[in-house]
Amino acid sequence: MSNCVFQAKNISMSFPGVKALQHVSVDLYTGEILALLGENGAGKSTFIKVASGVYTPDEGEVYLQGALTAFSSPRDAFDAGIAVVHQELNSFPELTIAENIMLSDHPRTRLGIIDWKRMNALARSAMSRLDMHLDPEKKMKDCLIAEKQQIEIARALFWNAKILILDEPTSSLNDIEIRNLFTYLQKISKMGVSIIYISHKLEEIFELAHRVVVLRDGEVIASTAVAETDNRSLIKQMVGRDISDLYPKRTPLFGRTILEVRHLHTEQLDDISFDVRRGEIFGIYGLMGSGHLEIGKALFGYGEIPEGEILIDGEPVQIRNSHDAVQRGLAYVPGERKTEGLVLSHSITSNMMIAHYEVHNSLLISARTEQDTANSWVDALSIKTPGISTEVGTLSGGNQQKVVLSKWLDVNPGILILNEPTRGIDVGAKAGIYAILNKLCAEGLAIIMITSEIPELVAMSDRTMVVCEGRQTGLFTKEEISEVHIMASAIGADYE
Ligand SMILES: Nc1ncnc2c1ncn2[C@@H]1O[C@H](COP(=O)(O)OP(=O)(O)OP(=O)(O)O)[C@@H](O)[C@H]1O
Ligand SMILES: [Mg+2]
Repeated sequence: MSNCVFQAKNISMSFPGVKALQHVSVDLYTGEILALLGENGAGKSTFIKVASGVYTPDEGEVYLQGALTAFSSPRDAFDAGIAVVHQELNSFPELTIAENIMLSDHPRTRLGIIDWKRMNALARSAMSRLDMHLDPEKKMKDCLIAEKQQIEIARALFWNAKILILDEPTSSLNDIEIRNLFTYLQKISKMGVSIIYISHKLEEIFELAHRVVVLRDGEVIASTAVAETDNRSLIKQMVGRDISDLYPKRTPLFGRTILEVRHLHTEQLDDISFDVRRGEIFGIYGLMGSGHLEIGKALFGYGEIPEGEILIDGEPVQIRNSHDAVQRGLAYVPGERKTEGLVLSHSITSNMMIAHYEVHNSLLISARTEQDTANSWVDALSIKTPGISTEVGTLSGGNQQKVVLSKWLDVNPGILILNEPTRGIDVGAKAGIYAILNKLCAEGLAIIMITSEIPELVAMSDRTMVVCEGRQTGLFTKEEISEVHIMASAIGADYE
C-alpha cells in the first residue's frame, strides 16, 4: 500500500455560519479502504463533495496520482475515475434502473440507435455483482429505498472507478445485502480500487476498513490503522468524551393497554394482532420486504386502509388517513426523511411546528413560543446548526433525522411509531435519543419501534414481534430476546 492515489491537502470550506472543513488533509492509497468517521455535522459529506467535484473548496488542493487537480464538476471527477454513492440518494425517478446505471452513456447499435437489449443486459450484470436480480426496465420510482440504494452502489461499481466513495451506503440495507456489498468491496480493494467508506456503524468499520480518519467539527482529529484502535477510543475521538452506556437501563412501566390491533390484513400483511401498553417499547423486526414497515404505515393511515380492528384505549377507531391518526394521538417518524418527513426548503422551526399545527388545529402559537420550542429541541437532541431559522435542507443527514424526530416528540403523542429512529445518527446523539425515549416511556408514552438494528431492539424494546412474509413469526419478551431468536423468526425458520 505504498502508492498514494488521492491526496487532499489543507482543505477548508465554509457555509454561512458554519466552518464545515478546517485545514483537512487526507491521503488515500492504492487498494486501501479508508473509513471516515465523525459525529453528525462533522464534515464527512462535505469532504467527499469536495473530493468529487461537487464543491470547490475555499482553500486547499486535491491531487490525483500526485498531480494537482481541480474538478469543475462531478462529471469531471467521475471521468477522472472517482465514483460516489451519496448519502441522500440521487437517482432519476422517471427513468428505468438500466438508464440510471448507464447514466448518459447508452450503448448503441451500429446504426446509432440506443441498444436497449444490451443496455438491460449490462444493467443486469452490474446488479448481479451485488447478487441483485431486479428487472432493469423497472422505473426507479417504483423501487424500495433499499433497492435504490443498491442500484446506486451497482452504478458506482459498474463504472470501474479507481476511487470509490460511499457515504453511509448500508443505511437501508439488510444483513444479507450488507454481506454481499462487503464481499464485493473487499474483492475490488484487493484488485487495487481505493475506497472511502463513511458509516456510523463502528462494527462495519472494524470489519472492512484498513485505516480510519476521525473528523470533529470540521477538523481531522486522528488517522489510525484500524488494527491499532478500538471502539472506545474511536468514540472518544469522535464525540470528545467517553460514552460508557449507549443504552439506558430500561425500567418498563407496563401501564394500561393503549393500543390493540386485531387481525390486521392488507395486501402485504396477513392476520397481525398485538397489544401495546403505556410505558412500553414494542419492537417490530423483519427483513426487507417482510411487511414489517407496512404495520407502522397501516396504523398511521398511510396507503391502503387495512382490514381488521384497531382499538385505542379500548375504543374501536377508524384510521383512514394521517389526519385521523394524529387526532387519535398517534405520531409516526418515517424512515425516508427526505421525502416523507421534512420540507427541506423551510426552516428548522417551521418543520418542527408542522405536526404541532396539525394536532392542535390552530395557528395561535406565538413566534416566541415557537422559537423557545425549537431551541429546546435543538439543545435536547444536540442538533448541529447555526440557528433555528436555518433551512433544514442544508443540515447534515443525521441532523435532519433529529429534526423529524423532534417534530413528532413535540406534539406529545400517546403512541409514537418510529421507523428506523436512529438511521444515520452518530453514537453520541443515539445515546441522547435512547435516553429521551426511555424518559418519555416512564411518563406513559407507548412506543412502537420498527428497526433493522438488532442491538437496538435487544437493548431497548420490552417485547419484540418478528414478521416474515406478512405474518407474525415470533414474539419475545426482554428475557427471551436474542439475536439468534430474532433472525430465526425473521427468516421463518421453525424454532422452539
Ligand atoms: N449546502 C450547505 N449549506 C449550508 N450548510 C451546510 C451545507 N452542507 C453542509 N452544511 C453544514 O456543514 C456542516 C457539515 O455537514 P456535513 O453534511 O458534511 O456533515 P456529516 O459529517 O456528513 O454529517 P452526517 O453524519 O449527519 O451526515 C454541518 O454543520 C452542515 O449543517
Ligand atoms: Mg453526511
